Amino acid sequence: MATDRTRIFDVTRRGEHEKYLYRCFAPMPFRKHNNRQQYLMKAIPKGFHKKLLVFGEEIVGQIEYAPAEVSGYPITGDNMIVMNCIWVLSRTKGRGLGRLLVQDMVKSEKLAAGFATVALENYWSPWFRRSQTQKLGFRPVYSIKVTHKTKHKEQVFSTYLTWMPKTENAEPPAWDRQKLLEGETFCLAHPLYQPQAWKGNVFDLK
Ligand SMILES: CC(C)(COP(=O)(O)OP(=O)(O)OC[C@H]1O[C@@H](n2cnc3c(N)ncnc32)[C@H](O)[C@@H]1OP(=O)(O)O)[C@@H](O)C(=O)NCCC(=O)NCCS
Repeated sequence: MATDRTRIFDVTRRGEHEKYLYRCFAPMPFRKHNNRQQYLMKAIPKGFHKKLLVFGEEIVGQIEYAPAEVSGYPITGDNMIVMNCIWVLSRTKGRGLGRLLVQDMVKSEKLAAGFATVALENYWSPWFRRSQTQKLGFRPVYSIKVTHKTKHKEQVFSTYLTWMPKTENAEPPAWDRQKLLEGETFCLAHPLYQPQAWKGNVFDLK
């Protein structure tokens, strides 16, 4: 349950919080990673937002989103906002904080026809699970089955394009499957990350 101890603020608007643009709760040192820096330079002027959720005195959640054209995934759609990532720390899960972050995004993006994101099923780490995006209100549009070219090569997992329409006549989003197989570069902690030195596809279609 969200309470008045809860506060959400946008780190793209407050210079002193720049480090949070480059890091999240993943245990990685703060570094202005090149791929991330390039992504932010392109996306921030075009409507990218990263917001942190403070519960009491502690940062326990985050959400990152942008218009489809400058999102972290090869997703397209008219007036479609793409949620790059959402994360609420497990010790505060189930209190409505994830829902609160999604509501804040929906409320902030007044002109959006809908919201889209990518979710995974049968991936070997617990990140970006489809069941979780489903709880937050996202429904599947398409899915593909893939394997990673170098990690857990035998494990086939599904990648879903999911969405949540906002207006009555919103058209579902689409994605560029070929580009998706190349991996993403906006976040190095992401399961679909394409390492900087990597050329070509990170994933094989199954
Ligand atoms: C998905 C996530 C954001 C949800 O956050 P949360 O604060 O626990 O979610 P909420 O408490 O707001 O719950 C959202 C909805 O799911 C429902 N829900 C929560 N836990 C549930 C459960 N175990 N079973 C069924 N429904 C559940 C809630 O009832 C709520 O629905 P409602 O608003 O209709 O009641 C959170 O689990 C998370 O961060 N997971 C990891 C996501 C991830 O992989 N991020 C990338 C890291 S690299």
